Amino acid sequence: MVENILPATIASIVTQTLQQCHYNSGFTFRSPAITVTGPYCVNQLGSALLELGAKHILVVVDRMVWQLGLTAGCETAITMAGLKLTLFSDVEGEPDSKLVAKGIAALNASGADFVLGIGGGSALDTAKAIAVLGDYNGPLVEFKVGGLASRRVGLGAIPTTAGTGSEATDITVIKDVANNIKVPIKGPALVPDLALLDPALMLGVPPQITAATGIDTLTHAIEAYTSRSSNPLAQAYAYHSIEMVVTALPIAVGCGDDMNMRLSMAIAAYKAGLSFSNAGLGLVHAISHQVGAFYHIPHGVANAIILPYVMVFNNLCCEDSYAELAKALGVGREAMTRRELSQTSILRVRQLIIDLGLPTSLAGFDVDKKDFSNIAEQAMLDICLTGTPRQVNVEQIISLLDQALAGELPLEGC
Ligand SMILES: [Fe+2]
Repeated sequence: MVENILPATIASIVTQTLQQCHYNSGFTFRSPAITVTGPYCVNQLGSALLELGAKHILVVVDRMVWQLGLTAGCETAITMAGLKLTLFSDVEGEPDSKLVAKGIAALNASGADFVLGIGGGSALDTAKAIAVLGDYNGPLVEFKVGGLASRRVGLGAIPTTAGTGSEATDITVIKDVANNIKVPIKGPALVPDLALLDPALMLGVPPQITAATGIDTLTHAIEAYTSRSSNPLAQAYAYHSIEMVVTALPIAVGCGDDMNMRLSMAIAAYKAGLSFSNAGLGLVHAISHQVGAFYHIPHGVANAIILPYVMVFNNLCCEDSYAELAKALGVGREAMTRRELSQTSILRVRQLIIDLGLPTSLAGFDVDKKDFSNIAEQAMLDICLTGTPRQVNVEQIISLLDQALAGELPLEGC
């Protein structure tokens, strides 16, 4: 009986129908074949590698992570499973084409059939590039990634920070030494076969890095949720990632030895990675990539500064999405309007960034306003801009940078 249906139910049906219309074009969702999680789950590394048919593992690791002994458990698990192991511990700083070439030479010399990255984003990106580039010698910008079948070796990733989500994504970023530019390489073959999330490897990450990488995760989730290329699965992972971040991140920052919160953040980063790998990112990353390169600001810190300003800018097209996210962010009341809920979400994100001790403005980073037009032009060319929900131009990006320098969030504008 139609008259017995509550208005809220009708509104829900209408919303679902509109979403179905939006998703009618269909989508493809890719994720690692095996994901292992839990404290000390490196003990299960050997059995997971055997399940994938691996025989000889090239372990690609951050030198610092290796020197700290964080890979010892992984190395033991590999050898205890009867697998051969070759170590490549040359990763220091951001990966470039020279490092990847060296890694490919190590892969070919060893005869390994599986590449396993262990460490932060740099080690995982290096491992992914080694696994897909093979003997390619041309310019990185011209390299095209094929499907899974095009990768001749297996690929696994064990993150030691919760942030990039690289263990779940189809992208790697390598600096092309010849042309002095960072080149994003994207394609199905870059999705690892194995992701292993062990919070015990993350207990020693300092609070500032935990905060910055955690906000990188939050930014991935918010941008993927509102991307024009999003889909129901990507939105579900993004929504749950946001719920986990707001609960776990403050405790992981304030009490780094809390294994449960470290695990929550590891899973949140993985979910956000899955989400943006399948839905794309947006304007925050398009700007923060340039700001980070110009002023040597760490990626997560740059995202923390830029995210609230872009959320205000995007609110014109994202009011409903931000209102939906209020619940995930743990704010808002039933009686609030969509506008009030979306504004509350934006303020909640900004307050979290402040609570974590991260900056909310570009002041203090030796920023020169004369660079802004150049930064804006570069941001307009960034690969991440394709998913952004509101069209943007150079002048609008310069205005956002001006706001971020002044540290004033124009909430009345949304
Ligand atoms: Fe990011």
